[in-house]
Amino acid sequence: MACIDCPTPSLSRLATQASPSIIRELLKLAGQPDVISFAGGLPSPAGFPVDEIKAAADFIMEKQGRSALQYSLTEGELALRDYIAKRETENGVPTTRDEVQIVSGSQQALDLIARAFIDEGSRVLVESPTYLGALQAFRMCSPVFEELPTDDKGLNPDAIGPEARGARFAYVMPTFANPTGLTIDEGRRERLAQKARELDLWLIEDDPYGELWYDQAPPKSLRAFAPERTLRLGTLSKVLAPGFRLGYICGPKHVLNVFTHMKQAIDLHTATFTQQIAAKVMNDGLLDTHIPHVRALYKNQCQAMLDALEEFMPKHPDIAWTKPKGGMFIWMRLPQYIDSTELMKEALEKKVAFVPGSAFYANEVQAWHARLSFVTVPPERIRQGVKALAEVVAAHIR
Ligand SMILES: Cc1ncc(COP(=O)(O)O)c(C=O)c1O
Repeated sequence: MACIDCPTPSLSRLATQASPSIIRELLKLAGQPDVISFAGGLPSPAGFPVDEIKAAADFIMEKQGRSALQYSLTEGELALRDYIAKRETENGVPTTRDEVQIVSGSQQALDLIARAFIDEGSRVLVESPTYLGALQAFRMCSPVFEELPTDDKGLNPDAIGPEARGARFAYVMPTFANPTGLTIDEGRRERLAQKARELDLWLIEDDPYGELWYDQAPPKSLRAFAPERTLRLGTLSKVLAPGFRLGYICGPKHVLNVFTHMKQAIDLHTATFTQQIAAKVMNDGLLDTHIPHVRALYKNQCQAMLDALEEFMPKHPDIAWTKPKGGMFIWMRLPQYIDSTELMKEALEKKVAFVPGSAFYANEVQAWHARLSFVTVPPERIRQGVKALAEVVAAHIR
């Protein structure tokens, strides 16, 4: 409550729209130490390469400390852009440094995209369900969302009709999506690119999880199928360290120029020091030695959760979950009469947490889903947590 003597500023329309959410309140409780939390979207700190980053930070301060502490280019440090361009090229899309814009986490890319593409009332296409943080970033510019057709294999390009024409862009996560963990196959990527050309649509490919495959690399990026109309967002948050706040946008230079001008007004540039450290460790080959450990850790924990779900969840035709081949999330479907926000309240009493599915829908909320993350919980706790969750679910089955 505001104190009597504290004056209240006149807030903008935008600021007054930001309302407290019941899910946010519940998620605060999920952070308590005695709760087994499948709610987190954070990568496992067990996977952070602390020693290698410390060595690189010492090296940078010793050899190039004065440039590391100086202002830098809005586009991003050359060494980092060169590395990312090289990796994109190796992955099948010839890319130069001019086709890479460094941003402060891919969340900033979503903000820049919102500001650059959306006017009040602009039509924006999103998957159903989709990443909550993207909805939040886009909502700041008051678009009208339209939902893209999806099925149990993810986004279905064949079901996108001519009415999609005229939308400002389609925001998609083709690989190990948040929240579903689903990946669209190469055929769907190709047809989505084709559809985008037919309907003159821009594609925003958000790909924070593509490197986190367990047994087999995912298909080529969506950008490989439509480089002329795709902006591909990447991040170092899940493969190196989210605290660095380093992400990037790859795409045609004339569009990146727009982002560069806007970013200049927002924060001048992303921190020089962390960019230089990241460029050093990655040019020394850290990703190739480090990511396999993260993949193995997540694969093991994902399997522990799939096994526990199989063992404990009530057998019911409307209870099912995705079986991701990479990434950080399992998406569980429950009978439609179960509201997962209500379920979360009871789960918290049993000291287990997840994210209620309703958070992930732009328009038509399907409240009978739950997002489960396994990455920060060790296997024996996963088993214990899923058992407790299954008991809560079982109590609701009719
Ligand atoms: C789909 C997706 N996009 C973007 C982000 C933002 O990541 P960052 O800003 O750390 O790069 C996340 C974070 O969880 C995400 O899941």
